[in-house]
Amino acid sequence: MATIPVINPRLIVHSSVLAACALAALFLLQCGSGVGSAIFVMEPLPYSQDALAPAISADTMGFHYNKHYAGYVKKANELTKGIGFSGRSAEAVIQMTAGDASKAAVFNNAAQAWNHAYFFKCLKPGGGGAPEGLLAEMIDESFGGFTDFKKLFITAAKDQFGSGWVWLVLDEGKLAVVTGANADTPLAHGLIPLFTVDVWEHAYYLDYQNRRVDFVKSVLDNLANWDFVADQLEKAQPSKE
Ligand SMILES: [Fe+2]
Repeated sequence: MATIPVINPRLIVHSSVLAACALAALFLLQCGSGVGSAIFVMEPLPYSQDALAPAISADTMGFHYNKHYAGYVKKANELTKGIGFSGRSAEAVIQMTAGDASKAAVFNNAAQAWNHAYFFKCLKPGGGGAPEGLLAEMIDESFGGFTDFKKLFITAAKDQFGSGWVWLVLDEGKLAVVTGANADTPLAHGLIPLFTVDVWEHAYYLDYQNRRVDFVKSVLDNLANWDFVADQLEKAQPSKE
């Protein structure tokens, strides 16, 4: 992953009822085992498909969620079925296959499934603005201020050659902006993801055509879910005991 240099610098029950309960439990167990066999689960979109318009149209979100994201989840499950990944988490599959050319297809689909679920959570209707609290303090400390962070993030998005992702990550206790090509993900590099924007063309082309910078600016100004990002940063902080 490319780190972007920073200029300024987380009961008594009747037997028949009991029998019914037992049958229900068996049914649930069977259903559960079916769900449990799939490592990658399609996470629900946290808002309606048209909720982010006009920054991201319902058409773009519909294709992005129902076709691209769904495709990665489906393929990741197909590729990990019965070949030694049983019981592993999505994150573990990504880390187990990162950098292994013989497992590139598994990594690409697994990472894309994970990246997309994370990206959708980084957005919300009526988002944008500036973060507050610890996140704001760390952005000031790491980048010199929120305006400088935005400039760095947008430049990183512009300079990412071809398809990929731009991330705000936590790297050994400090914030950093990094980019990754194609399916690359901070999880493969020991970095803690905080915020991301998908800069694959499918994320913006219907709405912005070739104007990637306008798309990223619009996400930062109108959709960024800094509350979610702040929660991730909080979770990543070492416990104070
Ligand atoms: Fe995407």
